[in-house]
Amino acid sequence: MPLPLPIPLFDLSRFGTQVDEAVREAALRVLGHRGYILGAEVEAFESDLSTYLGGGHVVGMSSGTDAQLALLMAMGIGVGDAVISTPYTFFATAGCIHRTGAEILFCDIDSATFMMDPASLRALLSSLKRDADGILRSPKGNRIRLIVPIHLFGACCDMDGIGAVAAEFGIEILEDAAQSLGAKYPSQSGTKSAGLLAPTSYVSFYPSKNLGAAGDAGTTLCLDAEMADRLRLIRNHGMEQRYYHKVVGGNFRIDAMQAAVLRAKLPFLDGWNATRRANAAAYSEAFTSAGLLDRVTLPAEPFADSGLRDHHIYHQYVIRIKTRQRDAVMAHLMEQKIGCAIYYPVPLHLQECFAYLGHKPGDFPASEQAANESLALPIFPGLRLDEQLQVVEAIKQALN
Ligand SMILES: Cc1ncc(COP(=O)(O)O)c(C=O)c1O
Repeated sequence: MPLPLPIPLFDLSRFGTQVDEAVREAALRVLGHRGYILGAEVEAFESDLSTYLGGGHVVGMSSGTDAQLALLMAMGIGVGDAVISTPYTFFATAGCIHRTGAEILFCDIDSATFMMDPASLRALLSSLKRDADGILRSPKGNRIRLIVPIHLFGACCDMDGIGAVAAEFGIEILEDAAQSLGAKYPSQSGTKSAGLLAPTSYVSFYPSKNLGAAGDAGTTLCLDAEMADRLRLIRNHGMEQRYYHKVVGGNFRIDAMQAAVLRAKLPFLDGWNATRRANAAAYSEAFTSAGLLDRVTLPAEPFADSGLRDHHIYHQYVIRIKTRQRDAVMAHLMEQKIGCAIYYPVPLHLQECFAYLGHKPGDFPASEQAANESLALPIFPGLRLDEQLQVVEAIKQALN
């Protein structure tokens, strides 16, 4: 019997001709006026995104990574400081902290959600000592400046829980909303958009993100107008007036072309996110009918009871294979030409480049377990139900 057609992990060509037309029109407009650097296209996108989010200052950047670096620079994070984040994530977060000269302190994730566990955060902060001036310091003597929780896969962290611990210890939060644009969070003070749950945050528009550019792009978000001004300076070599540098910044500017493309795509975002959620619901049903719930853990929906439509936007659909068979399942899917991926195979505390931190296997067990068990399946808008059933059937074959 011939093998069914391949199923990609992600396929932008299936997102619809309507958006293709809007993107082409935007790109041709920019090519027509040739205003490639900052200017009206960037300002229009920043304004539209702020309206979409329901507030906040948007300062577009060249990537999510650059957005984070610009924020850390704007806060003056550097040598002598320490920043807390989680090890089960994409590299960028810890990479930026390292590049400022600050120390990285890890705290473990909640196994159920893959994200920062407020209890681990509290345990870490409680283990640290204050100096004679009451400043909380790492064991190496660096000042604890910031906590960076990371919303992974399209749901939000327990921001109320993390916020309570942060407030108790007097530490600020910087939110990594790279993967969660469009998600809503039922905070104690009302419903808020991911990206506006802390004073500052950043988003990635990498092409495979729910709102993806035609190349690299990202943005910072912040609640304070002065911080936004500072970020505008930093993204443009610290210049207000050409060749007069107020502060040291970088070239972190979002391209006008990317801003125009993103602005054209933004009106489609909620529709795509709804499709991703419908695909997730279809997987749940298929895994349940296939009798696989004893061996496969489906993604947690920590805020499903909130009644919010967008409590999860399924940037990724990540299951766990409980039976130490994840790699075998993955090999079987690849053989069947079904796209899948491990996000993330090596937790950051065990990465070669961070060996100097002196961590060893077992230091962050929940992160290490997630790295060993997780498997991302296709979830993109345009994925068909028959393809999803084929994915579940292939996993069943591999596990039986
Ligand atoms: C959690 C997380 N943080 C940061 C980034 C960095 O974003 P970018 O790839 O736009 O630099 C990404 C993107 O891949 C991400 O997934």
